[in-house]
Amino acid sequence: MCGSGQLLIRFAKSTPGEYVGLDYWGDDWEYSRSQAERNAALEGVQGPEWLHGSASQLPFADGHFGRVVSSLTLHEVRDADDKTVSVAAALRVLEPGGRFAFVDLFDDPCHYDGRDRVLRVIVSAGGEVESARRLSEILELRFPLNLAKVLKYAVLVAGTKSLGKL
Ligand SMILES: C[S@@+](CC[C@H](N)C(=O)[O-])C[C@H]1O[C@@H](n2cnc3c(N)ncnc32)[C@H](O)[C@@H]1O
Repeated sequence: MCGSGQLLIRFAKSTPGEYVGLDYWGDDWEYSRSQAERNAALEGVQGPEWLHGSASQLPFADGHFGRVVSSLTLHEVRDADDKTVSVAAALRVLEPGGRFAFVDLFDDPCHYDGRDRVLRVIVSAGGEVESARRLSEILELRFPLNLAKVLKYAVLVAGTKSLGKL
């Protein structure tokens, strides 16, 4: 889900810690693990682990991470018919009290059966949603970013995993 690693590298630069970037890096994307590794090296960031895998079947134990972030990837997952499978998987690997932030096209009917269903899946997986807002309410999306095929339907959902819910 980390693509070229830009976001994760930015996190690693601002807050030292252990970071794992996972992506499928399929042929239909220009991103690759070597590109992420190179970008980290160029930024002087050492240590992120880069893993090939699918967001629908995360190879981590329940509650493994203190933070989980996904940017514009969950709707791209094609190995599960229901895109919310990956949303629930991301919550599964988050520790109780851990924070999550997902930006995705949750309002796009081409990908999801409505934002409310996504939020219900998050709650069922132990998430407490603190905010769910269209990206366009948070920042100005100029043309072409405001188009339906780009970021018009993008929603930022953020919250915390309930304490005691593993
Ligand atoms: C629009 S890009 C976003 C990349 C990055 N998150 C960003 O914001 O720059 C979508 C990413 O989803 C990845 N992807 C597609 N299917 C995936 C899957 N099943 N599991 C994990 N990543 C996947 C692609 O390889 C690509 O890097």
